[in-house]
Amino acid sequence: MTGPDDEHAEVAAAAAALRDARFVAVLTGAGVSAESGVPTFRDALTGLWATFDPRELATPAAFARNPKRVWDWYAERRAQLARVEPNAAHRALVDIERQVPRFLLATQNVDGLHARAGSRALVELHGNLARVRCSACARKASRWDAPTDAAPPRCAACGAYLRPDVVWFDELLPAGALAAAEDAARSCDLMLVAGTSAEVYPAAGLPAAARAAGALVVEINVHETPLTPHVDVALRGPAGALLPALVRAAWPAAVR
Ligand code: OAD
Repeated sequence: MTGPDDEHAEVAAAAAALRDARFVAVLTGAGVSAESGVPTFRDALTGLWATFDPRELATPAAFARNPKRVWDWYAERRAQLARVEPNAAHRALVDIERQVPRFLLATQNVDGLHARAGSRALVELHGNLARVRCSACARKASRWDAPTDAAPPRCAACGAYLRPDVVWFDELLPAGALAAAEDAARSCDLMLVAGTSAEVYPAAGLPAAARAAGALVVEINVHETPLTPHVDVALRGPAGALLPALVRAAWPAAVR
């Protein structure tokens, strides 16, 4: 059992490591946006994959079978993003970026909230829901016609269906983003892993790579994950409280 004093000690230990770190890498997942009102994927009752089958919505095969259903589902999620704002967790990561000499934030989130909060050194490992590209020629589309009743809008260049510029299951991650995240994992001295179930690879392998290269790994999550036994410090609680608490403890004079 751990009590409030132990939790305080854990935050203090992580904050001391953060203050001393030369290169901080961060891996985030859907839990970091949960307090903004964006649903996670795997939380038992509220996660998207509790209600929807990812094989019907988040694979190239699903898009080939029923492109309109897949388009509509992502269009609805894109519309939801217009109604949410970054939260204290996103903002604390901006504060950390400002305080440390080197920093990289690798996110699995496609909601764009880290960029909206002001994160600069940012790679989006699973793409971005706000972007749309051609499913055949990969050309990015900045505007598109309304879908018909039966089909998604089409690419202005080649006529194939447009699709969200996110990574689906059975697809590769953007090579540059993954390489940057892997480099950071190998070179950082501290990795924060916040709000991810650590179940989807290759992103879920980044903390182990960081630890193998000698970094201290700190997990922030409301629940235990498969990663928890393998981290140096596990902070249990909401990212919107714990990340600001870390910043306050690490740099008391610099709190906004
Ligand atoms: P998951 O839904 O799998 O995991 C969310 C994690 O956040 C869980 O471990 C929760 O316990 C935790 N959590 C929830 N609320 C939290 C809070 N307020 N503070 C801290 N932690 C909280 O989401 P991801 O790990 O991001 O991929 O999922 C990885 C990938 O699987 C996603 O990028 C998506 C999905 O399929 C694609 O769409 C390609």
